[in-house]
Amino acid sequence: MSAIPLVRIGEMVDGEIRPIEVDGRHLLLVNSEKGPSLIDRICPHAGGDLAKGKVVSSRIRCPTHSYLFNLETGVCPLGRREGWGPLAVYELFEREGQLCVEFAD
Ligand code: FES
Repeated sequence: MSAIPLVRIGEMVDGEIRPIEVDGRHLLLVNSEKGPSLIDRICPHAGGDLAKGKVVSSRIRCPTHSYLFNLETGVCPLGRREGWGPLAVYELFEREGQLCVEFAD
């Protein structure tokens, strides 16, 4: 495992949703009121493209069915009740002025 730098600290604007491809994975960097999050781009409900979603406080709204996912936990309350999801959320850390991620495999 090694740190993969994604973006400079403080570079993203409020509410920004930035698609990135890392290690063959299609991901989104999202800057909400709680700060930056790294999530899967594809919605776990029915495949909506969250890059076309909208940040709502500390959640992201899917453009397909408008469900909201917590950007810290990935949980959508409806998904928890119906048994799908959550959205994958990856841990970010700072190194040398960059936000970074590490993948286990
Ligand atoms: S595909 Fe995202 S909420 Fe249905």
